[in-house]
Amino acid sequence: MPRRTARNVQEFAETWSARGVRAWSEGWWELGHTVGDLLAPIVGAPAGSISMHQNVTVAQGVIASCFTYDGRRRKIVLTDLEFPTNIYLFEGFRRYGADVVIVPSDDGIRTNLERLLEAIDETTILVPLSLVLFRSSYIQQARAVIERAHRVGAHVILDIYQAAGVIPVDLAALEADFAVGGSVKWLCGGPGAGYLYVRPDLAARLEPAFVGWAAHAEPFVFEAAPIRYASAPERFQSGTPNVPTLYSARAGYEIVAEVGVDAIREKSLRLTRRMIDHAKAAGYRLNTPDEDAERAGVVIVDVPDSARAAAELIRRQVIVDHRPGAGIRMAPHFYNTEAEIDHAMGTLVEIVDAAKG
Ligand SMILES: Cc1ncc(COP(=O)(O)O)c(C=O)c1O
Repeated sequence: MPRRTARNVQEFAETWSARGVRAWSEGWWELGHTVGDLLAPIVGAPAGSISMHQNVTVAQGVIASCFTYDGRRRKIVLTDLEFPTNIYLFEGFRRYGADVVIVPSDDGIRTNLERLLEAIDETTILVPLSLVLFRSSYIQQARAVIERAHRVGAHVILDIYQAAGVIPVDLAALEADFAVGGSVKWLCGGPGAGYLYVRPDLAARLEPAFVGWAAHAEPFVFEAAPIRYASAPERFQSGTPNVPTLYSARAGYEIVAEVGVDAIREKSLRLTRRMIDHAKAAGYRLNTPDEDAERAGVVIVDVPDSARAAAELIRRQVIVDHRPGAGIRMAPHFYNTEAEIDHAMGTLVEIVDAAKG
């Protein structure tokens, strides 16, 4: 947690205490817009294009509710390497008529691009695609997918959760239709601050069905239905903004912007390469691409009984994560040092060797 976050959360409490209901008209009501604008330059989005939500699932739900699934164009194409929330949510749209196609991967690390592109055709409406796969840290060929989707009239929802803040992301240059993500990872913004980007020309035309009073052009007039939509990004908002988590998210965005994503990427490649060299020297299997251009910020090392090894690393204060079927996820960020990488990998070798007996 950034030190500044503690101050910001304290400021929330003090504002609530001192200003009470008046705080809404003194910045709270617009806070989603303000915080979205802090995030926008980090991901190559223009000001006013990002709305804030509880998480990716909610943000994807808002997008999915902008479309219908009962006409000829009703196919949703995903790969089996997507984060489960994306698959669960869109699978649920079968009940509204969606034809959900899951494209299998060959190796569990990379998407089979050719197979994915073939699945996207004139009947496709949405292609939810993680820019970086959570399972392997593989950087997907988003440009090729977006080009193909646009050629046949489909929309791509880029999930940039595993990318934002660690690799350069330029949503405008990619011509992504939508992007979603959260702040728990590289953005150092903590839980409860999911975000939704909508391409500005598209945003002006879309009318989400999953909508609440905060998306009304004049919410405080409390008009009868049907809703008169606000302009973007408010039209994608549901109800009352998630004020405390907007306070806790902003310091992370500011710091990532101050350090700069290019500098973060440069250091991340140095640290992850060092980690990979250690893992190779120890003979461990890597479930992450070896090529720098294909790998984002995470290194996934598979060792025998990796769940137990991950738990032991954490017990020894080397903070990692574990994914069944993938291995130990190690995610050094800009604040880590080379000495910490050497320590983490040395500790892992000790744990694995001790288990061999
Ligand atoms: C690619 C990706 N999408 C989504 C999520 C989380 O979804 P939600 O914000 O709905 O919890 C994660 C979390 O690890 C993720 O890696």
